[in-house]
Amino acid sequence: CHGFCNSINDDWPGYSLDLFSFPAHYSGDLDCVVIPHGVIMDRTERLARNIMDDLGDHDIVVLCVLKGGYQFCADLVDRIKALSCNSNRTIPMRVHFIRLKSYLNDQSTEDLHIVGAEDLSFLAGKVTAIVGTGKTMKTLLKHVEAFRPKMIKVAGLLVKRVPHNSACLPDYVGFEIPNRFVVGYALDYNEYFRDLNHICVISESGKMKYKI
Ligand code: HPA
Ligand code: MG
Repeated sequence: CHGFCNSINDDWPGYSLDLFSFPAHYSGDLDCVVIPHGVIMDRTERLARNIMDDLGDHDIVVLCVLKGGYQFCADLVDRIKALSCNSNRTIPMRVHFIRLKSYLNDQSTEDLHIVGAEDLSFLAGKVTAIVGTGKTMKTLLKHVEAFRPKMIKVAGLLVKRVPHNSACLPDYVGFEIPNRFVVGYALDYNEYFRDLNHICVISESGKMKYKI
């Protein structure tokens, strides 16, 4: 990566855990901090502005992708609300939720499925913003397209740099990161680590401790 970009290089070792605070119940379970919480918030603020510039004055339906996307979605919606209060451009938003599940331990299981799928026919003709962490967008996009929204925009907090990635990129990307399993900021390992603010790399002993 050259110049300014939102990309975290493969050889970047991350921040030492000693530089930040995190819950004591996770000591020993983490290797490093990849994205500190404050940086996520700053980036989210900018994404909110970009979304506002592109979609301001449209009514939008926000589709929050659970579970890993709940924090990003909440913070992004929050920033968009703040911008709506401080300017004469606003975005009326309705927020819906959809739940996907694909991971056991740190492995992607083949069958990504939509849990408790709701009828999304209310999306027909609407501008839809899908907000998630960015990992499972392809399947979801196909699912959502079937309900014929007028326009679909995807905001993903993270895009992993994987070899031969044919997946479509989200319209709004928070960060591009190395292809490593990360936790925190609502991303889990077997439901643990959602209560961690920073995005971190889990340690081998952390993987063992919470393995199913
Ligand atoms: N962390 C947590 N959940 C995930 C990840 C990850 O890195 N990738 C896909 N699902
Ligand atoms: Mg998960």
